[in-house]
Amino acid sequence: MAQGQDHWESVYRTRQTTEVSWYQDDPRMSMRLVAAALGGADGAVVDVGGGASTLAAGLWRTGHRDLTVLDISATALATARHDLGDDASAVHWVVADVRHWRPARRYRVWHDRAVFHFLTDEADRERYRATLRRSLEPGGHAVIGVFADDGPTHCSSLPTARYTAEELAAQFPWLRMRQAHREEHRTPSGAVQPFTWLLLYADPAA
Ligand SMILES: C[S@@+](CC[C@H](N)C(=O)[O-])C[C@H]1O[C@@H](n2cnc3c(N)ncnc32)[C@H](O)[C@@H]1O
Repeated sequence: MAQGQDHWESVYRTRQTTEVSWYQDDPRMSMRLVAAALGGADGAVVDVGGGASTLAAGLWRTGHRDLTVLDISATALATARHDLGDDASAVHWVVADVRHWRPARRYRVWHDRAVFHFLTDEADRERYRATLRRSLEPGGHAVIGVFADDGPTHCSSLPTARYTAEELAAQFPWLRMRQAHREEHRTPSGAVQPFTWLLLYADPAA
């Protein structure tokens, strides 16, 4: 079992997906930034650490047909699959640890909401960056949302790193910052969690 997998399996086996702090019924910022990256519905999208998120369903509804959702928790993916109903069989579901995943292909968009900030160890961040490098098409985009510098220090009982837009961009020095946003996520219990979001571009000329 990968490091952390038992934690996340236990979370998704014991909590309702609508009651976890990261739950959102409308992944508005994710949809907006994926749209900005693609300018339409064509292009492969991978949602890394997608869990039981409604993003895959939202993208499917808006015409995206090349979708991959990766998560360390099989239980989380089973929930997301169930929510997509008959359409779920057209989505690629991958149970893997992003730090060690070897993608068999490349993607036009890499999306990560609330996964990178759990990597508090530099060696793990380097493994994540290596996977991202192997995954992105030249000319592709990464959409990454993490806790802002004034965001929570912990989530799901785990410590988290926090970033300004500049600090987050500095984690991916070979990518160009296209957009930066701040979002205040309201958790199901009513707490506010500030997020930093970036749209980063893999310039083929760089
Ligand atoms: C805070 S949740 C966010 C889920 C989803 N992105 C969303 O916005 O609803 C973090 C997710 O990352 C997954 N995760 C944590 N560490 C991971 C790793 N090393 N590789 C793949 N997934 C991971 C967890 O199982 C969980 O689904």
